[in-house]
Amino acid sequence: MRVLVTGGAGFIGSHLVDRLLGLGHQVICYDNLATGQIANLNHHLTHPHFKMVIDSVLNRIELGDQVENCDLVVHLAADVGLTNVVENPVETLMTNVRGAVNVLQAAFKHHKKVVMASSSEVYGKNINGPLNEEDDLILGSTKVFRWSYSSAKIVNEQFAMAFADKGLEVVCVRIFNTYGPRINEDSVLNVFIQQALAGQDLTISGDGKQKRCFAYVSDIVDGLYKAALECPRCDGEVINLGSTDEYDIEDVAQRIKQLTGSNSKLTYGHPWLDNTQRRVPDVNKAKRLLGFKPSTSFDQGLAATVAWVKEKGRRVLV
Ligand SMILES: NC(=O)c1ccc[n+]([C@@H]2O[C@H](COP(=O)([O-])OP(=O)(O)OC[C@H]3O[C@@H](n4cnc5c(N)ncnc54)[C@H](O)[C@@H]3O)[C@@H](O)[C@H]2O)c1
Repeated sequence: MRVLVTGGAGFIGSHLVDRLLGLGHQVICYDNLATGQIANLNHHLTHPHFKMVIDSVLNRIELGDQVENCDLVVHLAADVGLTNVVENPVETLMTNVRGAVNVLQAAFKHHKKVVMASSSEVYGKNINGPLNEEDDLILGSTKVFRWSYSSAKIVNEQFAMAFADKGLEVVCVRIFNTYGPRINEDSVLNVFIQQALAGQDLTISGDGKQKRCFAYVSDIVDGLYKAALECPRCDGEVINLGSTDEYDIEDVAQRIKQLTGSNSKLTYGHPWLDNTQRRVPDVNKAKRLLGFKPSTSFDQGLAATVAWVKEKGRRVLV
């Protein structure tokens, strides 16, 4: 298969590219390097089945040509990161809504299947748990910009379902917190690891009692791969992908301190506005449709992530 991966230079995207090339597929990585990095793909740049296109999903002409050229699109390109989203809501909405619509329109025109990355952020303030795909999506005020990311992902899903109704093969995956090597700079785990390694305080927002689930990136890539290539029954569906093991953020900080052998203190700051106390997925649909079964324990995954952050720090110093 010739797979177009938008956002393929990013954290999750680059791991998906690894998997696809490893299994003998051809990959076109389409990324404007906004947050993605060529360094994530250095090991593939001369691979005969790999092609890199550095452009924006907002460029409809180039994107359309690449969609026409492939068999299948995995759309991961997005403006991400809470700080970025809050500071740049217009850009977030443009990239995340218009970019996704461009992908869906091109795929519809050229009859190509799409896997669309959505997010657990669509559940917003819904703290019921475990969160099921049919549950209500509860967002806050439109004056609170953190909701621009969630709103955009909901609009993406709504467009995807509308195109599915017109015959497009499309599946939306609601990805929950993901971590592992190449993790985003401002992700809470990366921030804690860097603070612990530098002997700085680990800065927790709020009281640290908020609960989160963290899925290792290779487990999420398993789900994405199956949704893309092994699941004809997934078309027109929305599927949660994530880990169901819940941890207090404070407990996560303590584990990272232990793993890094750090003497850092934990400090507690203002919580993010509308920060949710709990977010745990119901992954029964993913199990049923995809055979989804995360296999990496939190301790194993954290150890690999700490090792990568350390190694990255060493490369920067050289
Ligand atoms: N990492 C997580 O925990 C998580 C959780 C929920 C959902 N997601 C979703 O998964 C997808 C991948 O996220 P990630 O964590 O790998 O983030 P990432 O920032 O590492 O990857 C996003 C990629 O999109 C690219 N991009 C941004 N704007 C673009 C544009 N206009 N044109 C082309 N490329 C563009 C970036 O350069 C980057 O490579 C995103 O859609 C994100 O919303 C991720």
